[in-house]
Amino acid sequence: MGKKITLTIDDRQVTAFEGEKLLWVALENDIYIPHLCAIKEEERPSASCRLCFVEVEGFSHPVTACTQEVYAGMIVKTRSPRVDRLVKSAFELLLSDHRLECAKCPKNRSCELQKIAKERKLKLRLTRLKPLEKEYAIDESMGSFVFDPSRCVLCGRCVYVDHQEVEVGAIGFTHRGLQRKVTTFGGGLLADSPCTGCGRCVEVCPVGALFFTDKAG
Ligand code: FES
Repeated sequence: MGKKITLTIDDRQVTAFEGEKLLWVALENDIYIPHLCAIKEEERPSASCRLCFVEVEGFSHPVTACTQEVYAGMIVKTRSPRVDRLVKSAFELLLSDHRLECAKCPKNRSCELQKIAKERKLKLRLTRLKPLEKEYAIDESMGSFVFDPSRCVLCGRCVYVDHQEVEVGAIGFTHRGLQRKVTTFGGGLLADSPCTGCGRCVEVCPVGALFFTDKAG
């Protein structure tokens, strides 16, 4: 990590190490920036959820905080009309591909979509887009946890821990664009995959797509 530097986020001076990613610097200083796909240990974040936009003085366009490195004298604003518009659109896009049944969901009240909606005063329902209404089979084959792909927001956290942390490789992304989904290789049940049932993927899932059967994950 680089040398210690000072930057300003929302008029607050904070210290960080040069080269750290802005998202984590902000969160560690209790400055909230919405985020779903970022993983602190990941060197090259996918920046796929598009929720962590911020303004950086001197930059012509908002940037994603999960990919932006901090530097001395950097001046950041986490909110602006442009940022709010981008976050609102990205959030609605995520909702359009996520079965919204909060009352029935095991992650109700601990879901990160609910947290983002509350923090940014966003509606947890679609206003401009139509739901994609993809119905996928629920996989209960592991017994200790359930995978409901219709609630998945494709953040990739489960795939990351499966591959990089526990190094099992039971799940991955298939297809591109609107058909993109997390699945086992070959599309079969988790119980028929190399999955060891360690539950790390369940622990990192920000929504109700992966949940323990005996407790909300
Ligand atoms: Fe930055 Fe998802 S957290 S794009």
